[in-house]
Amino acid sequence: MTETVSAPETSSLRDSGGDLIIIGPPGAGKGTQAKSLAHENGWVQLSTGEVFRDHIRRQTDLGRRVKGYLERGEYVPDDVTVRMVRAKLEDISPSTRVLFDGFPRTVAQAKALDQLSGEMGRHIGGVLLIDAPREELVARLNGRATAEHRADDTPEIIANRLDVYEEQTRPVISYYEDRGLVKRVNGVGSVPDVTARLREAAE
Ligand code: AP5
Ligand code: MG
Repeated sequence: MTETVSAPETSSLRDSGGDLIIIGPPGAGKGTQAKSLAHENGWVQLSTGEVFRDHIRRQTDLGRRVKGYLERGEYVPDDVTVRMVRAKLEDISPSTRVLFDGFPRTVAQAKALDQLSGEMGRHIGGVLLIDAPREELVARLNGRATAEHRADDTPEIIANRLDVYEEQTRPVISYYEDRGLVKRVNGVGSVPDVTARLREAAE
């Protein structure tokens, strides 16, 4: 109960028993790292970007509704995003730990997650922040553009995504820092090196 509001800086994220958030700019490696951390710990990864892309591929109503936002590199409105997350969480037992990847991305989403967690007998145990310089992020995302053809990996949209992150998601970090929940990890280096840093941060 108290962990929700006042986990000290030195607490163990792994032992907190709560859900974890992986946060950081586009290209920081959230998806790459969340996948392996979730796999090795038996956590459930919940990537809002992946869920939206899946709906777009399947041409669902939600997919049609969010497609333009993703293509422009803008955030999907909070109410739509929170409703989708609520539906996902309803299918996950409170005893299973969720690793949120790319959510919450606005302070309004962070507040909504607190509310949802409270209703569902869950809590946030910690926040892992992966950071890297803008040039590195741009290089990675341009590289992926060639390899994977993700619709939002064009130079203009990459720049927009990075700007939107600075404006709307940086404040989310402060929101959790005020509760002593944030562990910062350097995202520059090989994928296994960054995984090792995250593992250590989660200890
Ligand atoms: P989302 O899918 O979350 O995309 P993103 O934040 O732009 O992040 P990326 O997936 O591009 O980067 P990542 O940090 O996951 O890095 P990755 O591991 O892929 O969101 C997409 C869109 O969906 C948003 O713009 C928005 O429209 C919408 N959306 C999603 N969530 C939302 C929300 N909560 N609210 C509102 N709207 C929302 O790695 C990137 C590349 O780098 C890969 O090619 C990878 O192989 C490479 N790489 C990874 N690690 C390393 C390393 N250590 N060294 C070298 N290369 C590396
Ligand atoms: Mg991702």
